[in-house]
Amino acid sequence: MLPEPIPIPGLLYGTAWKEERTAALVELALRAGFRGIDTANQRRHYFEAGIGQALAAAYRAGIVTRSDLFLQTKFTYRPGHDHRLPYDPAATLSTQVAQSMASSLEHLGTDYVDSYVLHGPASNYGWTDADAEVWEAMKKEAVLGHACLLGMSNVSLQHLEQMAVSKIDLPALVQNRCYARLGWDREMRFFCREHNIMYQGFSLLTANLDVLHHPFVGKIAARASATPAQIIFSFARGVGILPLTGTSSAEHMKQDLASLNLQLSQEELRTIERIAQ
Ligand SMILES: NC(=O)c1ccc[n+]([C@@H]2O[C@H](COP(=O)([O-])OP(=O)(O)OC[C@H]3O[C@@H](n4cnc5c(N)ncnc54)[C@H](OP(=O)(O)O)[C@@H]3O)[C@@H](O)[C@H]2O)c1
Repeated sequence: MLPEPIPIPGLLYGTAWKEERTAALVELALRAGFRGIDTANQRRHYFEAGIGQALAAAYRAGIVTRSDLFLQTKFTYRPGHDHRLPYDPAATLSTQVAQSMASSLEHLGTDYVDSYVLHGPASNYGWTDADAEVWEAMKKEAVLGHACLLGMSNVSLQHLEQMAVSKIDLPALVQNRCYARLGWDREMRFFCREHNIMYQGFSLLTANLDVLHHPFVGKIAARASATPAQIIFSFARGVGILPLTGTSSAEHMKQDLASLNLQLSQEELRTIERIAQ
């Protein structure tokens, strides 16, 4: 029987750039209450095996079981890697996907991931034959029960529109960098809403420092006894973005999770959305 994805948590813990601190920080995040983990089988930016170590420690300590968790990882094309590849670069793309998945499952100590994401299409200028082969291979992994949901990251509207026109199955989720000056990826978010695609946003704080430090955000933060970062995460959820945070701070982990209890008014959401426009 194919695994069922768990309900998606309201906030995902991102694991990029943590290197040898990955295991300790992921364990801390699980202890703090995070139940969604985002990673990639791309050793250049992520240490996926470190997440497996944290999961094993958390299972041993009785903090969580596998079925409590939403685990998401990614397949990355050759140019996104350094020399530490999770597949044979001479193999076909379909084989690379199968090898990368097998390696992810081993790193994470599981027999399925809740979400498997194409880290980025092969070209910025449209859907290619390479993407078509990889997407088919990812669909096969889902049929084999290795992944519940399939997603795409760093994807443009052009890619998805091309897929839709060609009657290619659209992803269940999109994960993109979210710039306030681009309306927080407004056009993509609208496309996702229209097609029932989950939208995950990263760099919500770091790409939008002017909004983070804007007096209006400061005013709402003061009103809600919250921090500006919490207001940005709450805003994101209010406009349909599932936020990622990769914080390394125990205090920020607590604050980021506490932002799940904040609710902004429609007027506040609209005003924040327009700040950088
Ligand atoms: N698909 C892709 O290509 C892609 C690309 C980039 C990232 N991602 C994913 O997204 C995750 C998040 O990455 P990100 O780019 O959004 O950056 P990030 O790693 O989450 O960095 C966010 C920054 O915000 C700070 N921060 C977090 N919570 C805060 C709070 N409550 N108050 C104040 N500061 C706070 C952090 O500082 P402290 O550590 O001090 O809290 C950090 O400097 C990554 O780990 C990765 O999983 C995916």
